[in-house]
Amino acid sequence: MNIKKEIMEFSPIGVINTPHKESTKTPIQPVFAKGITGTVEIYPEYSEGLTDLEKFSHVFLIYYFNQSSKTMLKVKPYLQDELHGVFATRAPHRPNKIGISVVKLRRIEGNILYVEDVDILDGTPLLDIKPYIARFDSRSDVYSGWQDEILDDTANVRGKRDYKE
Ligand SMILES: C[S@@+](CC[C@H](N)C(=O)[O-])C[C@H]1O[C@@H](n2cnc3c(N)ncnc32)[C@H](O)[C@@H]1O
Repeated sequence: MNIKKEIMEFSPIGVINTPHKESTKTPIQPVFAKGITGTVEIYPEYSEGLTDLEKFSHVFLIYYFNQSSKTMLKVKPYLQDELHGVFATRAPHRPNKIGISVVKLRRIEGNILYVEDVDILDGTPLLDIKPYIARFDSRSDVYSGWQDEILDDTANVRGKRDYKE
């Protein structure tokens, strides 16, 4: 098999501003960051691409984990003290440090998106935005591997990481 490895280059289309300054105090997913607000500043040269986005209640933010300094193929996820393959987790220390968060879109003013439920560190470079579309993105026939072993109470405590503004 001819496997072609290429280097790909991406430039940020904006920056994500949040109240989260410390990795270990940042909630681990939007679902554990309810009501925490942030802004996403889109660089002016891309702002035309925001046309019609304000009619969507949620968006995917796709970003670069710029504060991850290592790559691990086995990680202990935040919700469990057992090792799992990194691709079976949402950990930041992955070969390509891409993060994805579904956040609420409250409003857009010019090139600034006002968002809620952020689990992202302040100053994170934004790579892309896509609208969350229930018809495409919602599933009912779901199972979730090792995550299904974790009790909701445990997830709530460990997932919020005791965030305080
Ligand atoms: C488990 S990851 C999940 C992120 C995203 N929702 C995902 O599924 O890709 C969330 C954690 O990543 C870390 N994090 C957030 N922004 C980061 C950044 N820019 N660089 C490195 N780590 C970051 C924080 O510690 C946060 O608690």
